[in-house]
Amino acid sequence: MNYETEYQSSLALEEAFRRELEALGFRIVRQPHGSDESADLIATTPHGEKLMIELKNLESRYVGRKSELAGKKKSIRDVPEEWRAQFAQQLQAIEARIRHLAKTSGTAVSLVVETAGIERESLDVTIPGRRPRAGHLHPITLMRQRIEDIFVSLGYAVEDDREIETDFYNFDALNIPEGHPAREPQDTFYTTDGFALRSQTSTVQIHAMQRRGAPVRMIAPGRVFRRDTPDPTHNPMFYQVEGLCVDRGITMAHLKGTLAEFVHRLFGPETKTRFRPSYFPFTEPSAEVDYSCFNCGGPGCRICKWSGWIELGGSGMVHPNVLRAANVDPDEFTGFAFGLGIDRTCARIYELDDIRLLFENDVRFLEQFR
Ligand code: FA5
Repeated sequence: MNYETEYQSSLALEEAFRRELEALGFRIVRQPHGSDESADLIATTPHGEKLMIELKNLESRYVGRKSELAGKKKSIRDVPEEWRAQFAQQLQAIEARIRHLAKTSGTAVSLVVETAGIERESLDVTIPGRRPRAGHLHPITLMRQRIEDIFVSLGYAVEDDREIETDFYNFDALNIPEGHPAREPQDTFYTTDGFALRSQTSTVQIHAMQRRGAPVRMIAPGRVFRRDTPDPTHNPMFYQVEGLCVDRGITMAHLKGTLAEFVHRLFGPETKTRFRPSYFPFTEPSAEVDYSCFNCGGPGCRICKWSGWIELGGSGMVHPNVLRAANVDPDEFTGFAFGLGIDRTCARIYELDDIRLLFENDVRFLEQFR
């Protein structure tokens, strides 16, 4: 056994350990006074635990029980006697240096992991927060709320109901006969057999009377759907608000008084109403309702298209067949109903030339209604 070559190869092992340690990302800092070296971890690492395991493996490969250095320790007895003690000391020193470096490297890893943890968890409460962009209500919603407020203060309940209906609620109960054009697929969006998207909120009249019986006083704002081609005054989906008042002795005068009060509160006390004869299968008599232009008050302007009047919607006295379909006795009760278009009213109030703007979802447009 050549003592000198054994010693050199042991030093080479120590050197190999250092290189592997550096390859893991450690920087070995040599102290000015010689042997007391320490290790830093150069980069902060998110993989602290993995690095710790690699470090343990490295240490046991170089100084563990099955390591080459352990083998050399066993061969001490084969070294000629005059060198034996010195060789043993040298091997011990090499092992101590390796173990020392492994230990300081471990400390460096824990330090980095701990610092990263503190940084991650620390919270600077003095940094100004990111303010969330506050949203606001859509103009149609604002309009709907104004309408609801007025009718609620007049003693009306607010009803909400389904948008997909059976033929019974869409047509039969509303006294719309077989073969009426409103039943044609050209006008109505059919879903599956026997179901269609409601084309007017009048369907809620039936639900409300079935639910509440008579007397009843309710409004029902909601979406309706028609196969209309979009243009400045038409959308295939728009909002209506239905009104229904059924009681003993209700007459057309109550209808006129109620809608007159409504437009006074919405547009101002000087606003006038006008009723034009019309036809709806579910009311008799029926009338279209107009109100005097809130902008010019009569002479005509751009908003009322130079007529002095603006259309509010349809109305009339509830047809006895409709009362019967909802199990209300027409000999005891009478009622009025009306249906107003929210989109067009909203467009008039905000002076929009085109109701399609309301559903383009252009934030630059919508932000004006804050
Ligand atoms: C009706 O829908 C009746 N249900 C109203 C009614 C209720 C009469 C109760 C009697 C008793 P009309 O089809 O006229 O009526 O529609 C009412 C309002 O909806 C119109 O005045 C208009 O403002 C609005 N409207 C109709 N079609 C469209 C559309 N395509 N886009 C936007 N608004 C519309």
